[in-house]
Amino acid sequence: MCTRETYCGSKPEGRTMSLLFTVEPSSGALAKLLQLVEPYSSSLLHVESRTAEKADGSLDVCLRCTPKDESNWSNGLQHQLQGNGAINVRILPEESSDTSTNTVPWFPRRASDLDLMMSEIYDFTTDPDAAKLPEFQDDAYQKRRKFISEQASKYRHGQPIIPIDYNEEETQTWRTVFREVTKLYPTHACRQHNKAFNLMKSSCGYSEDKIPDLEGASKFLQERTGFRLRPVAGQLTPRDFLSTLAFRVFCCTQYIRHSSNPLYTPEPDVCHEILGHVPMLSDPAFAEFTQEIGLACLGAPDEFIEKLSTLYWFTIEFGICKEAGEMKAYGAGLLSSFGEMKHAIESSEVQRFPFHPPTITEQKYSLVGYQNTYFYPESFEDAVKRVRQYVASIPKPFHCRYNPYTEGLEVMSNREGVTRSLCEIETELERLKKLVGKLEVQ
Ligand SMILES: [Fe+2]
Repeated sequence: MCTRETYCGSKPEGRTMSLLFTVEPSSGALAKLLQLVEPYSSSLLHVESRTAEKADGSLDVCLRCTPKDESNWSNGLQHQLQGNGAINVRILPEESSDTSTNTVPWFPRRASDLDLMMSEIYDFTTDPDAAKLPEFQDDAYQKRRKFISEQASKYRHGQPIIPIDYNEEETQTWRTVFREVTKLYPTHACRQHNKAFNLMKSSCGYSEDKIPDLEGASKFLQERTGFRLRPVAGQLTPRDFLSTLAFRVFCCTQYIRHSSNPLYTPEPDVCHEILGHVPMLSDPAFAEFTQEIGLACLGAPDEFIEKLSTLYWFTIEFGICKEAGEMKAYGAGLLSSFGEMKHAIESSEVQRFPFHPPTITEQKYSLVGYQNTYFYPESFEDAVKRVRQYVASIPKPFHCRYNPYTEGLEVMSNREGVTRSLCEIETELERLKKLVGKLEVQ
């Protein structure tokens, strides 16, 4: 199991810089390296460590400091660390710090930085209603689930996802869920889901007889929208989970719900991911919508993480939409639950409101049981537009853009960077306008 220790310092003055490195196991090695940082930094703002991939006790370490001298930081400190046992020292792009705002929380800059964020898992047994469920009373089930979660914890960015050898009981649970929810898809699921789901049956091995492996589903998504799946041990913290979406990475659990209640689970499981999330992520407009929420959360203050989580909850998890005047399900929590899909679409006792992010972000919800309120956008394109308007109200002194070529973020925090990006967008816009003109003539 991974360990994670975090220290958050006070508000930084001026620019902040971040470093990642690995330190081999040896008594006092990390303390010695931290002493080397001191002469280069006016303040050490954040230290985070976790066990590294190598099962030899090595630690991956992330530091954030306010440097005394920026030019000396990269050459001097990097050199010092490397010379004293630090491995794979990497400097993360600079982080602008506007002293008129609060400290910007650390966020990943490259897709590989997601490796640092996979260990803080929500414990459902802290919810008294969830703790009474049979899965938490069954020792054999918990043991199997722990084994599968530990496999996921070993995953590192870029590796192929190792398939799970599901047993007959697990496959039977999958079969029950698959049979039930697919009965409703033609009448209750949105057209984007049904189109993708049919395609996945023919090209991804989606069937009731075998739980599809994440690697095949991930490749399917990459070819369509650039989204990739990543195995995870359980439900991450909201900030960590939403951050992964900015990189078009979607974290998926691989364990399956308890066989005693195949039609309901409060937790994410492989049925929920494979049946609910994956097909929708192959739709370009939905993928863009999903990434937009991820980009918005990067470096956002805590109060906005809560609002963005609520927005995620009522859209990507429990969203409904209007199609030719009828309500349809597109949220994964609905598409993977026979009972709640019927409830959301058919029940006359639930409230359904038009899509309005400022209202949605204030809506209360429960992690356990069916929702009583749902929100519907006119289209995903319309939802993206409204979400962009909403996220513009989040107080952040920078703007992030994902670069798929480098798998990293472009953090724009000064006039020069923003102007450069504007020029690129204007050039592309001009090209497209010319093309539209030519096409109209033809
Ligand atoms: Fe989910």
